[in-house]
Amino acid sequence: MVRSVRILCVLLLFAALSVYAGAAAAVRASPGARSGIEGVSAMAYGRPPGASVKAWVTAAALGRGVNFGNMLEGVNEGQWDPSGAVPVRDEFIDVTAAAGFTSVRLPVRWSNHAAARAPFTINDDFFERVESIVDKLLAKGLYVVLDMHHYHQLDGDRLDSGEFAVSARVLDTRFVGLWQQIAWRFRDKSDHLLFELYNEPHGRLTPSRWNALAARALSVVRQSNPTRIVVLAGANYDLSSLSLPNDANLIGTFHDYSPLTFTHQGAEWVSPPWPIGVTCCDDSQRAAAVAPIAAGKAWSDQWHYPVLLGEFGSYHFGDMNSRVAWTRFMREQAESRSISWCYWELAWGFGAYDPIGGGSIGVPGDPPSDQGGYWREPLKEALLGSS
Ligand code: BGC
Repeated sequence: MVRSVRILCVLLLFAALSVYAGAAAAVRASPGARSGIEGVSAMAYGRPPGASVKAWVTAAALGRGVNFGNMLEGVNEGQWDPSGAVPVRDEFIDVTAAAGFTSVRLPVRWSNHAAARAPFTINDDFFERVESIVDKLLAKGLYVVLDMHHYHQLDGDRLDSGEFAVSARVLDTRFVGLWQQIAWRFRDKSDHLLFELYNEPHGRLTPSRWNALAARALSVVRQSNPTRIVVLAGANYDLSSLSLPNDANLIGTFHDYSPLTFTHQGAEWVSPPWPIGVTCCDDSQRAAAVAPIAAGKAWSDQWHYPVLLGEFGSYHFGDMNSRVAWTRFMREQAESRSISWCYWELAWGFGAYDPIGGGSIGVPGDPPSDQGGYWREPLKEALLGSS
């Protein structure tokens, strides 16, 4: 009897310890543990094992994508001075899927919707809004690359009007804390959801600072999403500056707007703006355009990770024939190297889709529409038509 009581006690103690260990693990992985972010050690990096089959398959499945740009990465959804922005509409999701795109990159300015102080809580209404859009996109069968965009202070850039600053001491930790919450919130979504840690790290984010910070952020993402595919860019617009974390479920990413004198002619955010009237594409322009794609492929071959051409596009001041020629060329160059791509962007100044009709954004002379938006057919055809 005494013996069986002892055995029972040991079993109860064991059960209690297991429950405690389980709860402790859950707390470690939950956003409730955010106060400990400073203590999370960065994932080791610099000796990456090469990509998993899952990463290769997912990268290929991203296929032909489009950025829902100038929407959720405005200072608020649909609000961004002076560049302008448009709120995400269900219509955009429907037309994107119906046109035959297979993925959407969703840039989000998380930093403007989160507390300035630890634990940097993300506003719940905003979280719900982003989640509802992600869910609708996934329900359409689209892959989604959920991207953090325009945390300007992190890059050391001037803040936009309507953007707030936080204490410089918490900048990096806040970035990690945002990812801890995002990763936890989306942990049960399908594998068609990917995370992209940060768009175009630059400026204050030197390569060494970015490599260390990305490894910290990936470490917290992995607490709740052990195998979700994560997309990573190199600092200074240069994938070769990236020290890959030692993780197999990664995709490298790069952008290509070459030649900028063509793609960014008239862009108001370039100072002074480049002259309008540049056509495309002669041999030297084609050589410039293809160079980043070739470099992306070389990086992929060297490190044995797939790459995503996450942004390419031309601003509306270019003439439509040239834009179509450049867009088709870019798509063909990426696809001939088996690189999936995301056009920048759906429905604003670079847009393949006019959200308003009447050419009020973008292409003067577009026929007016009172039926909501419509595709700029030549651009859509350059992206999705048979070559
Ligand atoms: C930026 C956009 C910009 C685009 C082209 C993107 O990465 O976030 O604001 O319009 O690049 O310059």
